[in-house]
Amino acid sequence: MKIGVPKELLADETRLAVSPDSIKKYAGMGFDVVVESGAGVSASFTDQRLVEAGATISSDQQQTIKDADIVLKVRGPDSDSGDDMRNYGSKSIVIANFSALTKKDKLSDFAKTGVTAFAMDLMPRITRAQSMDILSSQSNLAGYKAVLDAANAMGRAYPMMMTAAGTIPPAKVFVMGVGVAGLQAIATAKRMGAVVTATDVRPATKEQVESLGGKFLEVDAEMEKNAQTEGGYAKEMPKEYVQKQKEVVAEHVKKQDVVITTALIPGRPAPILVTEKMVASMPDGSVIVDMAVEAGGNCPLSQLGEVIDVGNVKILGHANIPGRIAEDASQLYAKNLLNFIIPLVNSEQKSIEIDWEDEIITGTLICKNGKIVHPALTGEK
Ligand code: NAI
Repeated sequence: MKIGVPKELLADETRLAVSPDSIKKYAGMGFDVVVESGAGVSASFTDQRLVEAGATISSDQQQTIKDADIVLKVRGPDSDSGDDMRNYGSKSIVIANFSALTKKDKLSDFAKTGVTAFAMDLMPRITRAQSMDILSSQSNLAGYKAVLDAANAMGRAYPMMMTAAGTIPPAKVFVMGVGVAGLQAIATAKRMGAVVTATDVRPATKEQVESLGGKFLEVDAEMEKNAQTEGGYAKEMPKEYVQKQKEVVAEHVKKQDVVITTALIPGRPAPILVTEKMVASMPDGSVIVDMAVEAGGNCPLSQLGEVIDVGNVKILGHANIPGRIAEDASQLYAKNLLNFIIPLVNSEQKSIEIDWEDEIITGTLICKNGKIVHPALTGEK
């Protein structure tokens, strides 16, 4: 059995879909792991380190993928970024983050290659799948990194400091959207000594914010009762709520040194939470980190991949924040993939046996036999 790991070709992609640890485990299961030369360098995994873990290094994409039973990638293959679709064929299972709900129009060329593809970004949020949840593992690190990015962009410190030269008050950090990234941002900012407030449309988050030592900024508890889908995600909120939220938030952001926005609605553009007027009202030297920038942004001024100054406020629109902490992000991503693959492998028979009825399989399977098959992509759901 062969696992092929080609280079990531998107310019800002620094992560790798295997780690030395996961390679050792795959080797123990009977896989030959073939990694394209240099694929792990930006995640601190040199070819030598990968070879020591049991991988073989291959010189190009074609050799890496050829005859692979499983191809592992961070980003789903995409001809626009240089992936050669001719290298993929019906023998292979491809496992990656396809951003399937937002990039579904681009999937048909890939489906036509005949591969069997699993989109890890569609993993059902059930207890059994928690260890395979790439959105969680990557968001968690991104939430941490966003707090550090803001610290570096700001001319102020997070903790209160009492020195002989005078006292520095603690920075005020406001986190909008308390999912996995938001919770980690709150925890990190608290650990660094900031005064932290946070808000979300899902009512369950109030207790979570408070348990981390933050203060919850409530918008409208009554309207929030219906804000969550069965899958645990936020819904798009009605106009009245959006208006009320703007009023409450507008008053609050005037006093914040750092605003970190993480609000997402799966398959939809990110909601606008910090308006131009709010940005103009913020204190000089304050920083906004728009973690939703890849989904359109929570602030209309933020620009993907850019750090911009709007008046005296900095807006950070970094793309691929988990890729800014590439080694740990790759470690966790690789472990998520390993946990997904383990139940598919019969190590004694050296074969891959997929239970096509399993909820984890039906939830993530996007392409099979030349077609796109996931109901959320075919319009059946
Ligand atoms: P996400 O990345 O989709 O969204 C981030 C946050 O933005 C969410 O908390 C959402 O409620 C909030 N949001 C959306 N619209 C908003 C608005 N207009 N104003 C303010 N906030 C807004 O969320 P993420 O991080 O994927 O987490 C969603 C839920 O899934 C959480 O409850 C999390 O605990 C749960 N979860 C469950 C897992 C499992 O059981 N396997 C694994 C990971 C997360």
